[in-house]
Amino acid sequence: MTITSRTEKIGLIGHPVGHSKSPEIMNDAFQEQKLPFAYLAFDVAPENLRDAVGGLKALGFKGWNVTIPHKVAIMDLLDELEESAREIGAVNMVINRDGIMIGTNTDGEGYIQSLRQDIQLDPRGARVVLLGAGGAARAVGHALAAAGASRITVVNRTEAKGQKLASHLNRLTEADWTTMDRLQEPLSTATLLVQTTSVGMVPREEDCPIDPALLHRDLVVSDLIYHPRQTRLLREAKIRGARIHSGLGMLVHQAALAYERWTGEKAPVERMYKTLSKALE
Ligand code: ATR
Repeated sequence: MTITSRTEKIGLIGHPVGHSKSPEIMNDAFQEQKLPFAYLAFDVAPENLRDAVGGLKALGFKGWNVTIPHKVAIMDLLDELEESAREIGAVNMVINRDGIMIGTNTDGEGYIQSLRQDIQLDPRGARVVLLGAGGAARAVGHALAAAGASRITVVNRTEAKGQKLASHLNRLTEADWTTMDRLQEPLSTATLLVQTTSVGMVPREEDCPIDPALLHRDLVVSDLIYHPRQTRLLREAKIRGARIHSGLGMLVHQAALAYERWTGEKAPVERMYKTLSKALE
């Protein structure tokens, strides 16, 4: 589709942004659906964030994605925050509604959609062990609690952060925290293990965040890392008969939800998967 003066503009701001696959996924989907939209990535240093937000608004961008390191800092620069952004404490997309800048977050809901649509798992009643307590864990933990998970046990290297996330989630469901060396008990009765830390990410690809002997066949093991190849955790889980779920799903579905908010059209999810897999090769 040719870019014209009437093309709707969508941005991405982060620092860096060179690794992001979002421009490929979004532009391919716009073209496939023949929508007059274009998606552009901008590398914005933290000291330029305020100017960049003013610039995107002045230039009439219909919205933009927000990635590291701006997801928290941008919250003070917007006109409104939707509940998802307030609960998660971070913004991953902005909608420009007639000059009002609204921050929201599709990461958690994207994760739930991926569980439901990609592996047919309804989180209602799930007993969850959540590894990590950073931004991704907050998004996923909140969405699982809101979707009816019956128990969430948080385990994190820095225990105080794990404790803080558990007490936040405790308002929505039964949530507690434990230490790595006490993982056996909550994991033995868990139905879903979600790994949100960077352990297993390049260059530590062969690291496994927990002792593989604790994995069992009644678990769904979900690793937010999105290698084109499976992480060691997922491989170990599969060997032990568990069902596995990779981070590609959350990435695609958070993008699909953003696409739908900006365009008002249903996102071509299958196509987005294909584009992402190809871009990661
Ligand atoms: P993200 O937004 O991707 O969640 P983050 O907010 O920086 O990133 O959080 C990273 C998570 O990975 C944290 O839970 C972190 O543990 P700490 O709170 O102890 O820092 C976890 N993490 C990172 N490297 C780790 C490692 N080598 N071992 C265990 N946990 C690790």
